[in-house]
Amino acid sequence: MISRRGFFKKTFQHFSQIALLSIVLPKNLLQASTKKKFKNPFHLPPLFLGTRKGKNVYFDLNIQSGLSSILPNKKTKTWGINQNFLGVTLKAQKGDTVHIKVKNQLSQTATLHWHGMKLPASADGGPHQPIKALGTWSTQFKIIQPAATLWYHSHTAHQTGRQVYNGLAGMFLLEDKKSKKLNLPSEYGVDDFPVMILDRAFKPDGSFEYIKTMHDRMRGKMGPYILINGVHKPILNVKKSLIRLRLLNASNARFYRLQFKDSRMFNIIGSDGGLLEEPVLTNSILLSPSERAEIVVDVSSGSIPTLIHRVYNREGINHDYDILQINAQNTTKSKRQIPKTLVVHKKENTEDVTKERLMQLQMKRPAFRGDSIFKINNKAMDMKRIDEVVKANSLEVWTVQNQSGMPHPFHIHNVQFKIINRSTSELYGHELGFKDTVLVWPNETVKLLIRFPKYKDAKNPYMYHCHILEHEDQGMMGQFTVV
Ligand code: C2O
Ligand code: CU
Ligand code: CU
Repeated sequence: MISRRGFFKKTFQHFSQIALLSIVLPKNLLQASTKKKFKNPFHLPPLFLGTRKGKNVYFDLNIQSGLSSILPNKKTKTWGINQNFLGVTLKAQKGDTVHIKVKNQLSQTATLHWHGMKLPASADGGPHQPIKALGTWSTQFKIIQPAATLWYHSHTAHQTGRQVYNGLAGMFLLEDKKSKKLNLPSEYGVDDFPVMILDRAFKPDGSFEYIKTMHDRMRGKMGPYILINGVHKPILNVKKSLIRLRLLNASNARFYRLQFKDSRMFNIIGSDGGLLEEPVLTNSILLSPSERAEIVVDVSSGSIPTLIHRVYNREGINHDYDILQINAQNTTKSKRQIPKTLVVHKKENTEDVTKERLMQLQMKRPAFRGDSIFKINNKAMDMKRIDEVVKANSLEVWTVQNQSGMPHPFHIHNVQFKIINRSTSELYGHELGFKDTVLVWPNETVKLLIRFPKYKDAKNPYMYHCHILEHEDQGMMGQFTVV
């Protein structure tokens, strides 16, 4: 565990990066919302457990469109999975085989990718598994990984950003026996809450406004309204004094520095790939697109803690944006204690590393007409080209080098890796756990230790890419097969 002093030192180390981030997050773009009251109720996405027959679980999903009330007195045309806006929460157990039938009721091709899942490439739901308009896709895979907060979202070639923006994203929770024994808050909607954070821009008529300017294209699409599970500034009424929030940055491009307005400490207990070995006490966490963190917060003071997104500039704190209020005025004091140790992660032996690869993230002047600005290793994504071939069950080191002036969250399908180190700072908090996405600062190099699962498929590739969806759609993505 790191001391409070250690934390501030760490914050200071990060300061230049935070300053840089503020260039990426201009203040005037956000809805200044500190004065307005929180009155919208928190939306708890319905929990889908599927239909269970022993260890086989069947999910019936519909990609649909509908009208949602997000802004006062306005209707927004939205997309969702088994609800009008965003996806329902899926939950399965380690050892289950999930059978998922996805019906696409839209009038365009879509896909559903199971982000963070270790699974056969043909089940991945990436751009190679398109579901045509009014078509159906059936897939199945076994859950072979530990309890975690994963998610699922559209991954259609060149359309991921727009389709996720419309609402094609939801959470996929995994449980296992070990995590259940830990006595962590785990009652969905009671003391365990999904918190999908996303930002949107609207047109005057209430419809979503997607890419409008060159800036949106370069920096990634951001909007002035920060929504939690699709609701602007919701209030969450809780009855329990110790609550778990499953934070997911489901935004296309915005980074969030999250903390509570009263600077209260909380424990980070999980990262992308599941529980940390031990809780990390902190008062702030930075999440780039697609990163998750599970936190446990003590709200026993009977207070109304407000979760904020803090934006910095070169002088320090620039502005705080209130994004979620927790009404804890009627809680009963919990006797629950957060365990000092959570799980044990398998230690890999670096002598077993059989291959090292270099991934250079680039934003370069196009070489020819029609060429892309966004590249990895001097190549823009090509569905017909396999960039890397990996051996099943092997251990590799990937060095991700950001050669551009913008931060990029780098994501790899089918794996949960460990960050070995980053060149500009120490690892901290959720970065100590298993990850499928790692934030790489401008001109930074990050080393990843990756154990690939045993699935083999010479034909169907998996993706690795920047999770700023506009960067991905424009080419900062590559493909690998596992053989
Ligand atoms: Cu969230 Cu290619 O993934
Ligand atoms: Cu993914
Ligand atoms: Cu990027």
